[in-house]
Amino acid sequence: MAKERAQWTGRLGFVLAAAGSAIGLGNLWKFPYITYENHGGAFVLVYLAAIAVVGVPIMMAEILLGRRSQRNAVGAFRVLGQGKPGGRLWQGVGFLGVMTVLSSSRTTASLRDGPSATSSWRSPASWARSRITPQICRRSSASFSAIPTSRSCISLSSWARRSGSSTSGVGRGIERAAKFLMPVLLSILVMLVIYSFWTPGFGEAMRFLFRPNFSELSAGGVLEALGHSFFTLSLGMGAMLTYGSYMRKRDSIPRAALTICALDTLIAIAACIIMFSIIFSFDFEVTKSSTILFTTLPVVFFQLPGGAAVSALFYVLVAFAALTSTISLLEVVASYAIDELGWRRQRATLTMGAAILAFGTLSAVSMGGNETLSKINLIGRPSTAGVFGTLDYLASNWFLPVGGLLIALFTGWILSRDETKEELEEGNGPLGWALPLWRFLIRIAAPAAVGAIIVSVILGAEYQ
Ligand code: TRP
Repeated sequence: MAKERAQWTGRLGFVLAAAGSAIGLGNLWKFPYITYENHGGAFVLVYLAAIAVVGVPIMMAEILLGRRSQRNAVGAFRVLGQGKPGGRLWQGVGFLGVMTVLSSSRTTASLRDGPSATSSWRSPASWARSRITPQICRRSSASFSAIPTSRSCISLSSWARRSGSSTSGVGRGIERAAKFLMPVLLSILVMLVIYSFWTPGFGEAMRFLFRPNFSELSAGGVLEALGHSFFTLSLGMGAMLTYGSYMRKRDSIPRAALTICALDTLIAIAACIIMFSIIFSFDFEVTKSSTILFTTLPVVFFQLPGGAAVSALFYVLVAFAALTSTISLLEVVASYAIDELGWRRQRATLTMGAAILAFGTLSAVSMGGNETLSKINLIGRPSTAGVFGTLDYLASNWFLPVGGLLIALFTGWILSRDETKEELEEGNGPLGWALPLWRFLIRIAAPAAVGAIIVSVILGAEYQ
C-alpha cells in the first residue's frame, strides 16, 4: 500500500458517520409509510427480527471486509478474494456497489424530492384541505431543491479536504460533519417525539405501532420488512465497507455494528411515533392514498399549535438525514477513485460528486413529476420510465439485494473461519458463543432471507 490510509479519529467518529449513512429518508419516510401500509404492530415486530437476523450480521460482514482489506469496495474483494475460489471475479461485487451508487438517482433525487414533494406535489384533495397558500409551500420546497443541496454536499466534501491533508479527509471532514449533524438530528427528533406526546393522536399511534395483530400481516409484508432492513442500514453497495476501511484496529466491529443498527432502528421507530401521532390527531382518510399520507403532512403541521416551528424542525431533520447519507454514497466512489485510479481526494470528491449529480439529475428528470417519489423507492412502486429511470429501478430492486447476498456468501463461505474470527475479535476480545451464532446467520440465515427477496422479485412480487 502506497500511503497510510486515513482513519476515523475515534470510535464515536466511526459510529456517528456510519449511523449518518444509515439514517436517512428510509427511516423518516419509507419506514413510516410501509408500516402504515402493513398495518403496524406485527410488521414492526418482523422488521425488528429482520434487523437482528439479516441486518446486524451483514453490517458486521461489510465493516469486516473494509477493515481487513483497508480498501474501497472493489479493492477489498480483489485483495481478500486472492487465491480463493472465484478469485478475481469477486471484484465484481465491489463494482456492483460502485455502479449502484453511480446509477442510483437517490443521491440527488432523494434530496430534491424527499422534502419538496411533501410541499409542492400535493394532490388536489390536500390542496383543498390546505389552509396555507401555495406560495408558502413552494417557498419551503425551493430551499430544499436538488441543486443547492447536492452542491452543499460537494462543498462539504471540499471543506473536508481543505480542513485537513489529503489523507485525513475522512477523519477531519466526514467525521466532523457527522459529529455536528448527527447530534442536531438526534435532538430535533427527541424534541419532536416529546411534542408528539402531547398530541391527541399519541395513544392511538402507540397502539398502532406496538400492538401486533399477526392476522393482518401478509407474506409480502414479511418480504418488505426484510428488504427494508437492508435498505435502511445502507447495506449491499459497499457504503459500510468503505467506512469500515477507515476504522481503527483497536475498535470493536461487533459493538460498532450493534450500535449503528440500534440507532437506526430507534430513529425509524421515533419517526413513526411522530408521524402517526400527528396523523391520528386528525381525521384523515389515509386508507386509500399513500401519497396523501405524506403529501398532507406539511399541511397538517401548519394546523398544529406551533406548527411552523415544528414543520421547520422536521424539514431540517430530513435534510440533515439525507445529507449524511449522501456523503457516504459519495465516499464509495471517491474511495474507489482514490485507491484504484490513484486520484487525489480533492479530484475524487469533486469529479465523482459532479458525476453523481449529473446522473442523479438525469434520473430525476427522466422520472418527472409525481412519479418521482415512487421512483426513488421511498413510496410506492418503481416504474421504469427512461434509461436512467431503468437504472434506478435496477439499482434499488436488484443490485442492493444481490450485492448483499454476495457479501454474505463471500464473508461466510469464501473467507476462512479464522480470518473472520481474527478481524471480528480484533479490538473486541474473544467473541465466545457470539461467533458461531454470527457464522450461522451470515452463512445460512441471511443468504436464505435475502435469497427469498430476490426470488420474489424474479417472480414479480411487488414488495417494494
Ligand atoms: N440507508 C439510507 C436510508 O435509510 C438509504 C441508503 C441505502 C443508503 N443504501 C445506501 C445511503 C448507501 C447511503 C449509502 O435512507
